[in-house]
Amino acid sequence: MTKEINIGLLGFGVVGSGVAKILTEHQTDLQYKLGVPVHIKKVVVRDVNKKRDTDLPKELFTDSLEEVLSDDSIDLIVEVMGGTGFAKEAMERALQSGKGVVTANKDVMAEAGPELLKIADEKGVDLFFEASVGGGIPLIRTLEDGLASDRIHALTGIVNGTTNFMLTKMKEENMSYDEALALATELGFAEADPTADVDGLDAARKMVILASLAFSTEVQLDDVYVRGMREIKDGDVELAERFGYTVKLAGAAKKDENGIEVSVEPVFVPDEHPLASVNNEFNAVYVYGDAVGETMFYGPGAGSLPTATSVTGDIVAACRNLLLGVNGKRKHAPQYDRKMKTDDQKFASYFHRILVKDEVGVLTHLTSLYTNRQASLATVIQQAKDDNDRAELVFITHSISRQQHLDIMEDLKNADSVVDVISYYRVEGEN
Ligand code: HSE
Repeated sequence: MTKEINIGLLGFGVVGSGVAKILTEHQTDLQYKLGVPVHIKKVVVRDVNKKRDTDLPKELFTDSLEEVLSDDSIDLIVEVMGGTGFAKEAMERALQSGKGVVTANKDVMAEAGPELLKIADEKGVDLFFEASVGGGIPLIRTLEDGLASDRIHALTGIVNGTTNFMLTKMKEENMSYDEALALATELGFAEADPTADVDGLDAARKMVILASLAFSTEVQLDDVYVRGMREIKDGDVELAERFGYTVKLAGAAKKDENGIEVSVEPVFVPDEHPLASVNNEFNAVYVYGDAVGETMFYGPGAGSLPTATSVTGDIVAACRNLLLGVNGKRKHAPQYDRKMKTDDQKFASYFHRILVKDEVGVLTHLTSLYTNRQASLATVIQQAKDDNDRAELVFITHSISRQQHLDIMEDLKNADSVVDVISYYRVEGEN
């Protein structure tokens, strides 16, 4: 009978230090729940001499992955280094050597999840990744267990804490983009390379993980249509507000009889929709199931202790399996072939903001471009003209296909009276 469980921790940054803190401070509760103590036996870091604010003894730190992987007393590897190359190799080697792995690494799980899960299945060990999406929100387990009997047909929401934090601070405290990003970085929300946050790649990786699980299909990163928050132009947030919307960087994964669509982009959310009031580093994900209907999961999407809570939750789950001797018994092979929708099968309302020459007949001409593409308009507004006799027009469409939206964008760009298509947004969360 196992007397204790030993962990090899890979990485001691924002998340790793949080994991050590929770395992230390909540040890009594964990022992009560598991019946055995859970110890960090070794911590792999790049620089063992770096000064660290931790109660863990210095002798635990090593720069040798080999030392940890070859230690037979270590039962479980917890990977919280981030990045892809070394982290993926470490996880693969750990699984191959018969050790279970808990990871927070969305980069690796989005790009090589199926490959690693296959190895875990073959080796009969666990590979858990709750912390890869939604920080402290137990979303993965909800999809795998709580909603296991349902058929999920959509999943939408905010899955990046950094950009949501930035958008909140820019709107409510008038912070500049750079100030908001610096603060998000200081608070430990942003990625090592924060372009992954602001350009939507971090959210896209999370949507790959969620969509693959929700639809039991191997969705790939290239399948995701991605636009980051740098697509939000000056004045868009205020304009959205005037029309009763809030701008959010949102992910969406939808499935119907035509296939799957997955996207990450800045969207207009109606102010009365709950997603509009999800602020700061908080995430919220709506999951729509055929049987359950609409469910919403909300919580801190980034930060040391919330993310570490998901990691330690996985540690508890893996320990329970170890103690029962039932590791690696989940079935991970996807049930369905991957079938992605084409642009004429994806439908939404769109908001278009256009700078035009303020001349007679412009509004009628541009409206006719929508009619020619069989797009019905819900709202048409002309803003005050500027000193150069140019005016802004805003068009909000009824539901149209993405192909219609793209065709209209092209028509607008080619119209003589159009100076610039300033920005465009999909409208999310409208019934
Ligand atoms: N940079 C990520 C975010 C961290 O801001 O959501 C959590 O995955």
